[in-house]
Amino acid sequence: MILKNPPFITLFIDSKLITVPAGITVATALAYTGDEHCRMSVSQQLRVPFCGMGICQECRLMINGRRHLACQTMCEMGMKVERI
Ligand code: FES
Repeated sequence: MILKNPPFITLFIDSKLITVPAGITVATALAYTGDEHCRMSVSQQLRVPFCGMGICQECRLMINGRRHLACQTMCEMGMKVERI
């Protein structure tokens, strides 16, 4: 039997396979890894999600080769997330 909405989703974060509960954002999935940073600033500081509502842009990263906001993107099966 194939579930339409599986309770867990498997995705790649920096090439590491991770399984997270379905229905969470990429920002939350990053927190599951124990390292929630999304990118490095030009002054080489780690940046983490701040506002959680698409305003601050601190959670920019690459998803399947395109820039996205981690806090505004829901996890999908097989998604490839790369910190920048
Ligand atoms: S956390 Fe502010 S835009 Fe995503």
